[in-house]
Amino acid sequence: MNKRPLGRTGLRVSEIGFGAWGIGGAQWIGATEDESLRALNRAVDLGLNLVDTALAYGDGESERIVGRLLKERRADEVLVATKVPPMNLAWPASPEVPVSEVFPADHVVRSCEMSLRNLAAERIDLLQLHVWHDRYLEQDGWRDALLGLKKSGKVRFVGVSVSEHDADSAVRAASAGVFDAMQILYNIFDQRPADRLLPLCLEHGLGVLVRVPFDEGGLTGAITPESTFPEGDFRAEYFAGDRRRQVWQRAEALKTLLDGEATTLPELALRFCLSHEAVATVIPGMRKTSRALENCAIGDGRRLSEGLLAALKMHAWPRNFYEAED
Ligand SMILES: NC(=O)c1ccc[n+]([C@@H]2O[C@H](COP(=O)([O-])OP(=O)(O)OC[C@H]3O[C@@H](n4cnc5c(N)ncnc54)[C@H](OP(=O)(O)O)[C@@H]3O)[C@@H](O)[C@H]2O)c1
Repeated sequence: MNKRPLGRTGLRVSEIGFGAWGIGGAQWIGATEDESLRALNRAVDLGLNLVDTALAYGDGESERIVGRLLKERRADEVLVATKVPPMNLAWPASPEVPVSEVFPADHVVRSCEMSLRNLAAERIDLLQLHVWHDRYLEQDGWRDALLGLKKSGKVRFVGVSVSEHDADSAVRAASAGVFDAMQILYNIFDQRPADRLLPLCLEHGLGVLVRVPFDEGGLTGAITPESTFPEGDFRAEYFAGDRRRQVWQRAEALKTLLDGEATTLPELALRFCLSHEAVATVIPGMRKTSRALENCAIGDGRRLSEGLLAALKMHAWPRNFYEAED
């Protein structure tokens, strides 16, 4: 597995990281702990060294499973990125809500302590605020808490998770000098982070973790007009109504671009993310060993050609399925 520097942190991270939302089980139905642990171990065997989880994933369940992984592996094999949930439990961040209701200092510290307990670890490699808006920069609380956690050694680096489809809400954070990393939704459908946010991250030495490379499955070609989801699975809303047909048509159109550079849609989707020079790692959601095998195989350092990237620009499809259907 090829590794890249995580911005200026001095860490080197595998091109493919492990998105561990799904193994938390609450919003993604179907994962089992043993299979999740097998998938994690297989990915690490294949050279993956970064797992992205969050206190909010299954109320700590994802972190606890990652903690089991840490116990089974050498200390230098796995880097853990986790997240502090907003105290008001509201995603995405609203610019109208003061940060005192979202990330007061004591909440940030308490959440970090809970994550450390779930992970059964003494320190967290990257602690991210799970929501963000640049208005927080002028407000107190979170900054002292994060810097204090760094100083105490409980946290090595700090970052933010940028709101879906709203890269502009974090452009000032990229140059604020507080954060070491940013987690950004960037995929073939939403290429807008490449306009401003990704170049800024590169300029200021922030490590970029790209999330949702498959548009929650839409970019794998697996979503068809007939797709159904288990009860309680968040994708029932995400791909509600006519959205399944729209996604399927877009994915079918992308298949015309498959050739020697990428032979499957998942490969095309991951290579697209990794072709931007600001990107350190892409973190597809994985729950099974087979997915770990397929995705880790893509982390070979190869980037898509300028010609294919130009063709992919024509397939951008900015929209927000996280919002309920009209
Ligand atoms: N606000 C935030 O900070 C935030 C929000 C969302 C996500 N994230 C992070 O980003 C990670 C990735 O996002 P995500 O999991 O939501 O979405 P995603 O990676 O875009 O898509 C996950 C879906 O892709 C499928 N998949 C994975 N590998 C595949 C392959 N090789 N071929 C075909 N299908 C494949 C999975 O299959 P299965 O159904 O078989 O598992 C799952 O259905 C999360 O796990 C989490 O760590 C963070």
